[in-house]
Amino acid sequence: MMQVDVAILGAGAAGMMAAIEAGRRGRRVLLIDHAKAAGEKIRISGGGRCNFTNLHIRPECFLSQNPRFALSALKRFTQWDFIARVDAAGIKWHEKTLGQLFCNGSSREILSMLLRELAEFGVTIWLETEIGSIRRRNGFQIETSRGIVSAASVIVATGGKSIPKMGATGFGYRVAESFGLPLVETRPGLVPLTLAEQVLEPLKPLSGTSVEGRASLGPVGFDEAILFTHRGISGPAILQISSYWREGDTLNLDLARGVDVAQGLREARQDAGRVQLRTALARFVPEKLARHLETVSTLTGNLADQNNARLDKLAALVHGYPITPVGSEGYRTAEVTLGGVSTDALDARTMQAKDVPGLFFVGEVVDVTGWLGGYNFQWAWSSGWAAGQVA
Ligand code: FDA
Repeated sequence: MMQVDVAILGAGAAGMMAAIEAGRRGRRVLLIDHAKAAGEKIRISGGGRCNFTNLHIRPECFLSQNPRFALSALKRFTQWDFIARVDAAGIKWHEKTLGQLFCNGSSREILSMLLRELAEFGVTIWLETEIGSIRRRNGFQIETSRGIVSAASVIVATGGKSIPKMGATGFGYRVAESFGLPLVETRPGLVPLTLAEQVLEPLKPLSGTSVEGRASLGPVGFDEAILFTHRGISGPAILQISSYWREGDTLNLDLARGVDVAQGLREARQDAGRVQLRTALARFVPEKLARHLETVSTLTGNLADQNNARLDKLAALVHGYPITPVGSEGYRTAEVTLGGVSTDALDARTMQAKDVPGLFFVGEVVDVTGWLGGYNFQWAWSSGWAAGQVA
């Protein structure tokens, strides 16, 4: 039987950080994963450049039934702490947009940094290892395909359900349930949204068209690109709002953010009243979209035929295009999983289960989900760090 102080289940971002920190404290740490390699999501993240954190970490960028829960860990191990490690490792980075930090080179640099630190602190890593049941007995006993592991503490860092092809499972949720911890219903987040066939049909010619826009739902909105796809809508603004969207909700799309289309159309009418509406609109949005908006507006004739009220109606459609998705592309393409182990059951400072001493949950398996833009990795680093201080 393998005996360790801390067994960490899942060698992703959160599990590796927890292992490094527990190892730094001199704990005997075993990191177990069923995948062939550690940190696969880090490797593929950010288009291969890993958007490893965000300069503007703040509470409103995290979704949870208790939005304040994440603050403790995020304040104790901040984006600046992670950036300091990246700098110390000599990894060059840049801010792409909106505070999002990416490696100049490759996400493999972040992965190598973590693997070096795991080795430095003597963490044992078991890859391609299946994990079975976990029981409380002199601490915990974990059944694995390499035999029984006995551990004083167990940190569950098995992530969410997103991208099953990459090894995602609902394992962490089942562990939580088996110890009587409550779960918040899970659903795909940061995911493209799909449209009903009759809504999609007239939008099909737009597939591949992208605009700088704003996607909003009530008071929440994101100013980023919107992309029309052959299945529905995507792009950063849609991925962001998808985490807030629920079946039946209608999104409001501004398809020409920051442009005064009403004023532009009035000026165009003065200068060239004979032009078609779609031609005038194509000064503000891609031509195919202009054609679609003209059809939807049901306005006929050229610019000179339109009074101010009609031009305003057309502009209002450009700035407030309503669209009601029917679903999402699901866990197959979702970047994250919303919901998970309820924060009610966890101590915010340590990530330890309040009623099961020695059992911790960190990273995406917990009901804390960040916006697109490095927030999810920062949550993984911060929550993993917090558990690693005490496990
Ligand atoms: P993570 O999923 O990383 O790790 C869980 C580990 O547990 C995996 O290694 C898995 O194999 C293992 N595991 C699962 N079930 C198991 C079982 N039953 N037995 C044994 N092992 C098991 N975020 C961000 O901030 N910036 C970015 O650039 C990106 N980019 C990005 C791209 C893509 C394509 C995706 C899918 C996601 C992102 N993300 C992101 C989100 C980010 O990857 C995610 O939030 C973190 O990886 C979560 O870290 P965890 O360690 O919690 O889980």
